[in-house]
Amino acid sequence: MKRITASALIIAALSFGFVTSDALAQSGAAVGSKVGAAAPAPVNLTLPNKDGSVRFLVIGDTGTGTEQQNELAGVMMKYHAAFPYEFALMLGDNMYGAEKAADFKKKFEDVYRGLLDKKVKFYATLGNHDESNQRFYEHFNLNGEEYINFKKGNVSFYALNSNYMDKKQVKWMEEKMAADTSEWKIAFMHHPPYSSGGKHGSSTGVREVVEPIFLKHGINVVLAGHEHFYERLKPQKGIYYFISGAGGKLREGDVKDNSPLTEKAYDKDMSFMLVEIDKDKQMHFQVINRTGQTVDSGVLTHQKTKTAAAK
Ligand SMILES: [Fe+2]
Repeated sequence: MKRITASALIIAALSFGFVTSDALAQSGAAVGSKVGAAAPAPVNLTLPNKDGSVRFLVIGDTGTGTEQQNELAGVMMKYHAAFPYEFALMLGDNMYGAEKAADFKKKFEDVYRGLLDKKVKFYATLGNHDESNQRFYEHFNLNGEEYINFKKGNVSFYALNSNYMDKKQVKWMEEKMAADTSEWKIAFMHHPPYSSGGKHGSSTGVREVVEPIFLKHGINVVLAGHEHFYERLKPQKGIYYFISGAGGKLREGDVKDNSPLTEKAYDKDMSFMLVEIDKDKQMHFQVINRTGQTVDSGVLTHQKTKTAAAK
């Protein structure tokens, strides 16, 4: 099982220089906690929650309809009251098993009803368990497409289909990203180009296709699921990578010990991410588990990408 000590975290913070003191202060309480043993943690927002920020939720591998998925959704609701995020990114495997109307109700609508009632807009990407027809499901906001681009403030989001990185999608990415003058560009998809998972690990085939495009067009951040844990990776060629795939399932203990890719990982309970991109070129993140404990938090500074610098 992966264990990250406070001292390791401090070394990482000193080495990479982008973890806030909040993360250090929180790490002692969060690391090594026993699932179910502790009372629910109170809402403890580490994000600055500034005026004018772009605020969103990140979840992956959600579609089970289990009690645990519902419990995690309850924590998301509590945090929405403190940090009113306007939309949510879904990193794929939105439906496990059957995909009838009753399944969409049980595994999505019933679970996130509170957020839907608060007008939180969900943007899905397709995972390996997802039928392509999910692109027509109104709550996933794909508008019939398998990959889309949308903007929120100064941030441009690319929802990609990592199941089929075909020439058509590559051409679309190249054209969209080349013309994109947004300050931040964030790609999200199901398969992780980099991962320390024992069962799956890095999706190298996807990486070979997307990484050159991401580097060429100044993608700042990549979010992926597929692995049923949380991982913040060391920046790869200047790009920040996260895995958040424990929204409905957990693969406990799956993160490899001493992986050279790992900046921080958590595989002891289900989790979700909150993200805030402020007007000062900073991206703040907070990762929260099913009992409401913060298991990672910090701030990343905008990279000076070619496209952004040319503005
Ligand atoms: Fe998957």
